[in-house]
Amino acid sequence: MSLRLLLVRSIAFILLATLTLGAVLVYWHALQKVRADMRGAMMVGLRIVDNAVDDAEEVALPRRRLELLVADFNGDRNLRAVLFNPDNSLALYSYLQPPERPAPEFLLNLLSGPPLVEAVQLPPAFKNLGILMLESDARNEVADVWSEAALPLSILAVFFSLIVIVLYFTLGRALKPLEDLTFAFARIGNGDYRTRVAPFFPRELTRLSSGFNEMAIRLSEMERRNHRLHEQLETVQEEERIELARNLHDDVSPLLFSVDVDAMTIKELAQTRDVDALVERANAIRSAVVDMKRNVKALLGQLRPSGLHALSLANAIENLISYWKSRRPEIVFSCECPDKSWGSRIDSALYSIIRESLSNAVKHTKPSRIEVLIEETYHDVLVARVLDDGGGLGPGVATGGFGLIGMKERAALLGGTLVVENRRDRPGVVVTARLPVPSEADSFPAMEGIAAQ
Ligand SMILES: Nc1ncnc2c1ncn2[C@@H]1O[C@H](COP(=O)(O)OP(=O)(O)O)[C@@H](O)[C@H]1O
Ligand SMILES: [Mg+2]
Repeated sequence: MSLRLLLVRSIAFILLATLTLGAVLVYWHALQKVRADMRGAMMVGLRIVDNAVDDAEEVALPRRRLELLVADFNGDRNLRAVLFNPDNSLALYSYLQPPERPAPEFLLNLLSGPPLVEAVQLPPAFKNLGILMLESDARNEVADVWSEAALPLSILAVFFSLIVIVLYFTLGRALKPLEDLTFAFARIGNGDYRTRVAPFFPRELTRLSSGFNEMAIRLSEMERRNHRLHEQLETVQEEERIELARNLHDDVSPLLFSVDVDAMTIKELAQTRDVDALVERANAIRSAVVDMKRNVKALLGQLRPSGLHALSLANAIENLISYWKSRRPEIVFSCECPDKSWGSRIDSALYSIIRESLSNAVKHTKPSRIEVLIEETYHDVLVARVLDDGGGLGPGVATGGFGLIGMKERAALLGGTLVVENRRDRPGVVVTARLPVPSEADSFPAMEGIAAQ
């Protein structure tokens, strides 16, 4: 059952119980009053009859006197006089004044009860002339009670019904925000983050609607970011694959080819038994294999993040640097990184930021020196810097491409910041990431002795 119906039903029940109690009290009072009035009317009636027949000795026509006495009761509100003949047959009776607004039959049955009947003791002069009886009839009294109680009771009933109706509609309006919110949450639950609710009234609920809308805005913003990160990730992965294919092709294929050629030559030389030439070819093969091993190792270093969980951050950065050293021997690289871990999330973010900064420095400019520095300040902030002495940022790089955005987002996800700017001390770019250091419980010492070979 809905909250609205539950509340309306409970209040309607209370009002109905009050109304019923009121009606029962009114009924009880009315019952006492009708009975007392009937008894009173009977006493008055008996006294009237007594007075009328008092001077019986002087009455010339006693039977006529009795008939007149019965006629005296015509139009009485509560009593009926009935005259029976000596043989018990009905001779005459008075008629009752009819009520102006008769009460309904059920009320009459409830309130009137059995009529009071009294046989009048007549003086001896009236003996054998008939039997006079007085009989009460509550019709008029009940009609009075009805007209007195009906109006207040019906006003109360109308008032209570109005309360219930007004309550029903007011509750409907007051609870509508909850209904809206339920629907809105269901839509959010189904992934529709564009859902918004109109401002709620009354005032107490306005904060609820604005809070919900803020939450929905944040969720859609997060979804958008997620989407973009996902796209970036795919782009980056695609680029990495292409780069890997190119590197394999450029660095390993020629060596494999030369090994193949040398092996063929050895086969031919074996027939001439030219030992010196054979040794020379074998040495050539060995040096090609050494080159290949170095290249493959550098490529493995590039294949992060799969490598990072096996390497410490410092080692992974060293690998990255040796990868670039082998490609750009003219650049001098330096690295100052404490051999420690700040937890996998931070390590992995730092690695990604440094990898992108290195590749930007190498790709977009011609530096002679690149420095990587990681330090922990006394204020529990981790500062990572990558500095190059290339040409610096061009004027059009206001927001950056996916690489810069990705770095900034990685830092923001960890509650930190990332700034890419031109160096002040000399031409070149400095990338500065500032990340809050996690509490002791989250950080781990660097794993030793597992640096991949
Ligand atoms: N170290 C740097 N030196 C000079 N220019 C840079 C450097 N790093 C980034 N940039 C500039 O910023 C731009 C955006 O970089 P990025 O977001 O990484 O995108 P992408 O590397 O895909 O071009 C680059 O195109 C380049 O012009
Ligand atoms: Mg880039």
